[in-house]
Amino acid sequence: MPALTPKPVTVPDIRNAKGRGRLVVVTAYDYTSAKLADAAGVDVVLVGDSVGMVVQGHPTPLPVTLGQMRYHTACVARGVARALVIADLPFLTYQVSSAQAVRSAGGLLQTGAAAVKLEGGERMADRVAACVRADIPVMAHVGLTPQSVHRFGGFKVQRDRDQLLADAKAVEQAGAFAVVVECVPADLAAEVTALLSIPTIGIGAGRGCDGQVLVWHDVLGLWDGFRPKFVKRYAELGAAAADAVGRFAADVRAGTFPGPEHEFR
Ligand code: KIV
Repeated sequence: MPALTPKPVTVPDIRNAKGRGRLVVVTAYDYTSAKLADAAGVDVVLVGDSVGMVVQGHPTPLPVTLGQMRYHTACVARGVARALVIADLPFLTYQVSSAQAVRSAGGLLQTGAAAVKLEGGERMADRVAACVRADIPVMAHVGLTPQSVHRFGGFKVQRDRDQLLADAKAVEQAGAFAVVVECVPADLAAEVTALLSIPTIGIGAGRGCDGQVLVWHDVLGLWDGFRPKFVKRYAELGAAAADAVGRFAADVRAGTFPGPEHEFR
């Protein structure tokens, strides 16, 4: 399946990709990773609030602030030439009111995102609609919404069919241009995908979605924390990095680095 478009990817490109192939989304949080992801031809680089877990070392994304998301979004945007940059609204930056959602989301667009992602279905549909009215494109997120981890009692597979269908329909009607569907049974995600006219981006939701998203550290095998069943590691860069740093340390201790070729004359 070829990439969506050789040109810079736009929100309408993603919206119109429904039924025309599979969208590729990966997270990134810094300039170098974003540049690599973009060069690899992904369609969307998502500045996820998973930054709180894989970069900051928290057990949940809840401590991530809007200021931090603005910083990471700016770093990522500088590294991306083609992919669409979408930034997560972190916890407590849109739950309070629609006005708060528009202000927070607008700030992410001002630092380089072309769209925002926010979690929640029916309950957040008015926030989606308010952002869209303010010309801020929104990707919604239903199923396992990590910011609701304490309500769910953990990062658990979500199986409530009626709620999932209602959530997905609500965010579509509110004007979302795409929706992440996280950690739901594959047949249910396929049902949501068939129900909606906007693309579904799955994570732990099987192959029936219109696209797939994975976290950068998971794809590259950089993360040794919680490893969900849905993760496929395409490299073991964590082990490679530890080995490289170990060899550097050994060279320094043995006096073999720097060598003459690394010295100025
Ligand atoms: O924060 C994140 O990285 C996400 C994706 C995993 C969908 O929300």
